[in-house]
Amino acid sequence: MIVLITGGATGIGKSCVETFASKGFNVVINFNKSAEAAKRLQEELSEKYGAAGVTITTFQADITDSEQVNAMFEAVGPVDVLVNNSGIGEQKLFTDITDTDWKRMIDTNLTGAFYCSRAALAGMIHNKSGVIINISSMWGICGASCEVHYSAAKAGMIGLTKSLAREVGLSGIRVNCVAPGFIDTRMNKQLSCDAVQEIIDCTPLAKCGQPEDVANAVYFLASEQASFITGQVLTVDGGFLLK
Ligand code: NAI
Repeated sequence: MIVLITGGATGIGKSCVETFASKGFNVVINFNKSAEAAKRLQEELSEKYGAAGVTITTFQADITDSEQVNAMFEAVGPVDVLVNNSGIGEQKLFTDITDTDWKRMIDTNLTGAFYCSRAALAGMIHNKSGVIINISSMWGICGASCEVHYSAAKAGMIGLTKSLAREVGLSGIRVNCVAPGFIDTRMNKQLSCDAVQEIIDCTPLAKCGQPEDVANAVYFLASEQASFITGQVLTVDGGFLLK
C-alpha cells in the first residue's frame, strides 16, 4: 500500500508519515521548501522500517502548481491513499488582506488539494479503490476572526470532501476530512502566550493537541476500520467546537 502525504516533512504531515510507515505503508513524503527535514525523516524512517520492507521516498513539488503536481503523480504512479495536508496560516484584519494574500491562501489550502486529488484519482478510479483525506480546520467549520481567507479555504476543503465523496463513491473511493483544533506545531508559533491560553481555556480537554492526535484520526479514516465512512468531517479539537 502506498500513501502520499503533502507537506509531509513537518508538523502534522510528519506525524502522518511516521504513523503510516509504522503500519507498513510505503510512504511518499511530498515537500516544497523543507528539503532537509524531508531527507532527515526519510533516512530516519528507512533505518527504522526498511528491514520490514517499508520504502520511504521524498518528492519535491509545489502543490499550487498543477504541472508540478501532475509530474509528481506520474513519477510516483498510483497511490492507495492521498493525504492533502499542506497548508499555510496567516492572521490579518479582513480589510488588510491583499489580492496576493487571498490568492496564496486559497491556492495553498484549497486548490492544491484539488490538483493532488485530481491527479491521484486517475489511478484510484482505474483500481476501483482509494482513500483521500483532507486536512481542514475547526476554523473552516466555525469561522475565525482575522483569518477569513484561511477559514474560507478550509471551509472549501469541507465542500470539496463532501462533493467528491458523492461523486467517486461508486468507484470504491472514500473521501473524508479531518478538522484539527489547536495543534502544537510551528504554524502556531507566532501566537502570543495569551492567545494560546485563551484557546486552551475554551477547550473542554484544557490542552492543545499534538500532531499524533491528528495523525491517528487520519490513519483511522484511511484504514479498513473506516470502510463504510465517507464524506465526513472528523474534528480533532479537544471538544472546542462543542456547544
Ligand atoms: P506546518 O507548517 O508544519 O505544515 C504545513 C506543511 O505544508 C509544511 O511542511 C509546508 O512546507 C507545507 N507546504 C506549504 N506550502 C506548500 C506548497 N505550496 N507545496 C507543498 N507543501 C507546502 O504546520 P501544521 O500545523 O503541521 O499544518 C498541517 C496542516 O494542518 C495545514 O493544512 C494546516 O492548515 C492544518 N491545521 C493545523 C492546525 C494547527 O493548529 N497546527 C489546526 C488546523 C489545521
